[in-house]
Amino acid sequence: MTISRMEVTKIVELAHELEQHVLLYGPVGTGKTTAGRMAAAKGQPVFHISLTSEQSAAALVGHYIPKEGSFEWHDGPALKAWRTGGLLLIDEVDKSSPDCGDVLHMILNDFSVAEYTLPTNETVKPFVGFRVVATMNGVPSDLPEAVRDRFTCIIRVGEPDKAQYKQLSKEMEKLCRGVYNTNAHKVKYSFRQLRMLDRLLQKGLEMEKAVAAVTEEEQESRALIEALTLAKIFPGEGGV
Ligand SMILES: Nc1ncnc2c1ncn2[C@@H]1O[C@H](COP(=O)(O)OP(=O)(O)O)[C@@H](O)[C@H]1O
Ligand SMILES: [Mg+2]
Repeated sequence: MTISRMEVTKIVELAHELEQHVLLYGPVGTGKTTAGRMAAAKGQPVFHISLTSEQSAAALVGHYIPKEGSFEWHDGPALKAWRTGGLLLIDEVDKSSPDCGDVLHMILNDFSVAEYTLPTNETVKPFVGFRVVATMNGVPSDLPEAVRDRFTCIIRVGEPDKAQYKQLSKEMEKLCRGVYNTNAHKVKYSFRQLRMLDRLLQKGLEMEKAVAAVTEEEQESRALIEALTLAKIFPGEGGV
């Protein structure tokens, strides 16, 4: 079922009250990262990281940096969030490298058992209030089972929010709704792409140029021009 954005926010808040970490998944551009950021409690610091397959665990926990002839430890976003009781927002959680995946386990562990010993020999535990919101574009089964299991609240965010649709012209909103509703998991054109296209068209740029500016391939451009013509956003041959 589709859950409205207000309901998403409410469920994330409830999950956080219950000290649970949350996973938001769905196609690109549906406002997952924004919703995650908004889930921070008043005054709660937010630490944001986007995972890639090349990162080592240091990207999450931290690393030494050279300073005045010796080395100084610098906490990564996960440990900063632990120490401050902050919100750790992890984008592209499914892109995690195996090395990051190992520390991800530990970070997501129940509060009673979560702890990490730094190379400095200091042992750190999560401070009260620490929560994780993770986002991904695929489906939760793409995650290693042990990581997925640590997200006890998993919500699908299938289409952009009302506040996002409001940023589009009426016609582009219709096209955008169609894109997300008929092709939910393989969105051909993202909200961002369509918003940019809308803005370029409103600034008077010719359709072909505007489309070329927001697409990568010829085939994609042609399909988008067709969609725009069908949606009567731009006159096709002999059109409106
Ligand atoms: N509630 C909202 N109000 C206004 N703009 C929003 C809202 N949610 C998302 N956006 C905008 O929509 C775009 C895509 O949102 P984002 O959170 O990055 O999506 P996702 O993480 O699902 O790819 C961003 O430019 C963001 O600023
Ligand atoms: Mg995102």
